Amino acid sequence: MKTFNLAFKPTRKIFIFTSLILIAVNMLQSCNSKDTPFYAGNLKCEYLVNPLGIDSPYPRLTWQMIDERKGAFQYAYQVFVSDDSAELLKNNGRVWNSGKIKSGKNLVLFGGKTLQPFTRYYWRVVIWDQNGRKSVASQTAYFETGMIGKMNWHGSWISDSRDENIKPAPYFRKSFNVTKKITSARQYIAVAGLYELYINGTKVGNHVLDPAYTRFDRRTLYLTHDVTSYLQQGENVVGVVLGNGWYNHQSTAVWYFDEAPWRSRPKFCSDLRITFEDGSTEVITSGTDWRTSLGPIIFNSIYTAEHYDARLEQPGWDKTGFDDSKWARPIPVAVPSVNIVSQVMQPIRKVEEIPAVSISKINKLTAVFDLGRNIAGVSKFTVKGERGTVIRLKHSERLYPDGRADQSNIDVHYRPTDDKDPFQTDIFILKGEGEETFMARFGYKGFQFVEVTSDKPISLTKESLTGYFIHSDVPVSGSIESSNPLIKKIWTATNNSYLSNLYGYPTDCPQREKNGWTGDAHIAIETGLYNFDGITIYEKWLADHADEQQPNGVLPAIIPTGGWGYTWANGPDWTSTIAIIPWNIYLFYGDPTLLEKYYDNIKRYVDHLTEISPEGLTDWGLGDWIPIKSRASRELTSSVYYYVDAVILSKAAVLLDKTEDIAKYDSLSFKIRNAINKKFMNRDKGIYANGLQTELSSPLFWGVVPDDMKQKVADRLADRVKEDGNRLDVGLLGTKTILNALSENGFAGLAFTLAIRDKYPSWGWWIDNGATTLYENWSINPESDISLNHIMFGEIGAWMYKALGGIFPDESKPGFKNVILKPQFVIGLDKFEARHDGPFGTIVSSWERVGDDIIYRVIIPANSTATFYPGSDEVLEDKVDISKNKYIKSFRQGKELELNLESGKYEFTIKKTGRSDGEK
Ligand code: BGC
Repeated sequence: MKTFNLAFKPTRKIFIFTSLILIAVNMLQSCNSKDTPFYAGNLKCEYLVNPLGIDSPYPRLTWQMIDERKGAFQYAYQVFVSDDSAELLKNNGRVWNSGKIKSGKNLVLFGGKTLQPFTRYYWRVVIWDQNGRKSVASQTAYFETGMIGKMNWHGSWISDSRDENIKPAPYFRKSFNVTKKITSARQYIAVAGLYELYINGTKVGNHVLDPAYTRFDRRTLYLTHDVTSYLQQGENVVGVVLGNGWYNHQSTAVWYFDEAPWRSRPKFCSDLRITFEDGSTEVITSGTDWRTSLGPIIFNSIYTAEHYDARLEQPGWDKTGFDDSKWARPIPVAVPSVNIVSQVMQPIRKVEEIPAVSISKINKLTAVFDLGRNIAGVSKFTVKGERGTVIRLKHSERLYPDGRADQSNIDVHYRPTDDKDPFQTDIFILKGEGEETFMARFGYKGFQFVEVTSDKPISLTKESLTGYFIHSDVPVSGSIESSNPLIKKIWTATNNSYLSNLYGYPTDCPQREKNGWTGDAHIAIETGLYNFDGITIYEKWLADHADEQQPNGVLPAIIPTGGWGYTWANGPDWTSTIAIIPWNIYLFYGDPTLLEKYYDNIKRYVDHLTEISPEGLTDWGLGDWIPIKSRASRELTSSVYYYVDAVILSKAAVLLDKTEDIAKYDSLSFKIRNAINKKFMNRDKGIYANGLQTELSSPLFWGVVPDDMKQKVADRLADRVKEDGNRLDVGLLGTKTILNALSENGFAGLAFTLAIRDKYPSWGWWIDNGATTLYENWSINPESDISLNHIMFGEIGAWMYKALGGIFPDESKPGFKNVILKPQFVIGLDKFEARHDGPFGTIVSSWERVGDDIIYRVIIPANSTATFYPGSDEVLEDKVDISKNKYIKSFRQGKELELNLESGKYEFTIKKTGRSDGEK
């Protein structure tokens, strides 16, 4: 599918027109900027730097204009792609030369000759600036194609057995000879389950828990490793260890993963493709000529833990010279799915090493380690002891009063059938040969504490245990600084929970469930995207959605799923991910790919809602999950999500030129909105339903309230919060809307009061009680639902960027091509700064109170613009009247002053700020 250029056509025309005018103006104005260097930088393919294993016939290429001049923009670009890096330097681009395209776009689809498998393509970009000057060429970037099609695989799928109940992990090895000089080598490996790859005794790469979890019987992922440097002349050995992961779930819990239709003994298929100096290639394939054996990993469960018996180690198994004559031959097995797809995604890694902050000795055989913060990941344990000593490492988020690990908040959905698979408890049996180390490889846990118990005395120090924070290693794309320390702490805890719940798909919590709960993820999408460059994870997750969607449009509450979740909790308040995620990716990246690719899925979903809700209302859903005290009308909140989906669909129809759908979904959204307002809105009182915080903020935030009623409803919402004692009274759905609905409608000060509250119920209350992550429940000691690492109440992170930083994407120029700046200089906060790395570069919005004025500093990246609403009529730039600055155009939209800024750095002095309700 190579169509999304169409979507941009109208904007492109407008852009070219305005660009021409601006060029003319700039040519007259610029005299001494002639020699300023500018160029295209940060080149990425499919949102990754120099990726391997690209299978798309039209990979997306992106870059940024690097240019600090005020008013800098890209007038035109030219992309060159070649399979020969030397040829590319001559700017020929024999695979693709886009020609000079007059456009400010920095996201294009590769449009050259048909891409060949196993090929590295080099590419560069040349751009022209607002003065029509040509840049130097960008640095050379590359992408490398993978299999492209399944006919290019040579290896066979193999396993060691067909018995899914075997506990130990299988090891595989293959020795082969290299006699010619190698120029490059790639290992392509597709796995149902998890794997680690070794060559000549060294683990390949630094990923963990590959491949990511998918619905294995519909889509299985393969990875590409550059293994050139791992090979040697003469004999080589390649080794593979397989873990169960979600493919062969042996632990039993309430979601029946052990009954997943795909469940089987893990298996793999691999091609090690070596290219020699003489131009020839050789492929070392997986097959029944390999050898296999069980080993020291005697049990592994992604959900619970790993058991390791070091006495069963076979030293040198992955090196040359090892005698594998006693190892068995693997068996050929069926492919897990006909759809073997490249994993083109930021990998999961051990991102942070966290030393224990303390060790408490409970008795001779038990000690408890504290990491000082709650994480998702693994612990590494090093010790010396007698052969056969059994050590249990029990991971927990809390401690009992006697100082021992308390798992009672996280083991509640676990249904063990015996005591052999204790929850979040690794078992390590020593071989008794000096210092020994254990770290689980095929699972992870949510924990702060590790209770270590041994059956024979061992000597331990604080250094015996280290934690590793593991998550999808998405680049950081935002930061917050604030004069209020609580704000920073809440923001940090939010990000800790966000990352603890990113493992190739977004999860609810890293301990009790590890489930891809849909609702939690769409509530957190903005927090995720302001802070992290996570597009690759969401694109993969949307493919998971497509794999799980029923033909009638219904989606399960958790994605992926082994089958659970099609009949509970999967109403529109949760499963609207199918529309909300693609829409937010479009807003943040300006990339319509997901909307386009899953347009029919969104449509089928909305059509299903329409089928079951002929009047435009639905009460299908869970409602305002985990509320504080009041429960909002479920029919209201679910219908609001139905409305949101219909609106997104109708906008997507416009964007993608689906003429036959535009009117249909436009009138559907109109109908739903009317139905909601008819049933729930009380015009006289200015409330919806019973006027609860969620019932007012949800229609306000999601655009259901008629314009003439907005202020009245916002006023009632503010009254309601005050009547509630300036305290939150919302559940999950209300946390998404309460702060935004207040701050977007004149009550930023009140929103701020809620955000920085430190008494129950609030985010600050958790922090005050020692939280380093966000919790699942407002109460700290409730009867149930108290994971200490849930992202679901995390919208506050996004709110900081939006309300305090004032940074919003502009729907009409998405991907921050134009940035909306609407900072709220709330009373009680003296300084605030938000930074976000968007597709054009880093946006900075930073303010400081100086006497009665606000000094507001902003940076708008080259090739983008901003619309700034200062909230005051008296504004100076660089201490001078704004009308004197040629890069600023001022307008008056209604009552409010609007400043249109070209790219560059600005410092405004804003007098008489009046936007905070405290000052109104
Ligand atoms: C999960 C939540 C989820 C909810 C929905 C819980 O068990 O942890 O985060 O959204 O169920 O029912």
